[in-house]
Amino acid sequence: MRGGAHRGGGTAMYSRILGTGKGIPGQVLTNFDLEKRVDTSDTWIVERTGIRERRILEEGRTTSDLAAEAGRAALEAAGLPASRLDAIIVCTVTPDVPMPACAVTVQQKLGANCAAWDMAAACAGFIYGLSVGDALLRAGNFRHILLIGVEVLSRAVDWSDRNTCILFGDGAGAVVLGASDQPGILSTHLYADGAQAGLLSIPGGGVICPATAASVASRQHFIKMNGKGVFLHAVRNIARASLDALAHNRLTPDQIDWVVAHQANLRILEGVAEKTKLPLSKFYLNIHKYGNTSSASIPIALDEAVRDGSIKPGQRLLLAALGAGFSWGSALVQW
Ligand code: COA
Repeated sequence: MRGGAHRGGGTAMYSRILGTGKGIPGQVLTNFDLEKRVDTSDTWIVERTGIRERRILEEGRTTSDLAAEAGRAALEAAGLPASRLDAIIVCTVTPDVPMPACAVTVQQKLGANCAAWDMAAACAGFIYGLSVGDALLRAGNFRHILLIGVEVLSRAVDWSDRNTCILFGDGAGAVVLGASDQPGILSTHLYADGAQAGLLSIPGGGVICPATAASVASRQHFIKMNGKGVFLHAVRNIARASLDALAHNRLTPDQIDWVVAHQANLRILEGVAEKTKLPLSKFYLNIHKYGNTSSASIPIALDEAVRDGSIKPGQRLLLAALGAGFSWGSALVQW
């Protein structure tokens, strides 16, 4: 048997993020490139979303390649060899294949010897994964977990649908979580509302609509979205989850140093800022470069904010996201 499902090691008070990393495809697709594919314009996309360009995974590379790249960088930043990982959790809705889990392929690519599984909560995937990873570490099940958010949405997007193709991009972000006596992850809050599932989904490819010539011809395997519906729920629910995190930790907006929220749309984040009284200047923003990379967006932003010196030791971070489901959540982190 490879690895061990339960390594033990005693309970820890907290889990902490020990290192961050990312995997960013080299291929850039700008709004001007999109003008040549669908009836849209750079001006419209920038005004409505804040996005200027996104990255597209090169042909021949896969989700697990990108995830492993992010994972390697996070392990290096944490100073931890892959052999000391107890688990790899990959949050994604665009795995290499439906079965087996993307995480087991990442385990092989990293040369790790540990438990490995996927989690799917769409754009809220990283927050859900962080909550599960934190609980496993505090329960004493594991000492070190590699948590990766990765998406290759370019292969799930209908490039003839201007309603969706302008929004999404590819990327991976990762963190190494470690059991600790020092405060790190202070709280996580998770929510879901399955009644809204129809507002953002990929209808084909599952049990309801397996792949057939007819399902492919009718484009059922691409992302379908009601943009306005998603927008309204995103502002309301990300704001509420953020306020719940503040209230739970008895903190006020001025006691938060950075908000690292899911980068779906700049206007959504402006709405969240207004509702929560968290100033937009505290929101770390990189949506202009990458678009919406779903579960990868928060760990990519975290990695960039750490490496460019924005996030400093001792600071308090609020993380929050909403995605298809809807599933959403927040986390309060002491860096
Ligand atoms: N380029 C140019 N024009 C476009 C366009 C595009 N890509 N998409 C839509 N339009 C047009 C519409 O046809 C409409 O034209 P009309 O006024 O002549 O009818 C006009 O622009 C406004 O469209 P509308 O759909 O009302 O725009 P919007 O302000 O709601 O913005 C989104 C659209 C998709 C950017 C916005 O709804 C959104 O970001 N929603 C959230 C999506 C999201 O974040 N999803 C992932 C969540 S994890």
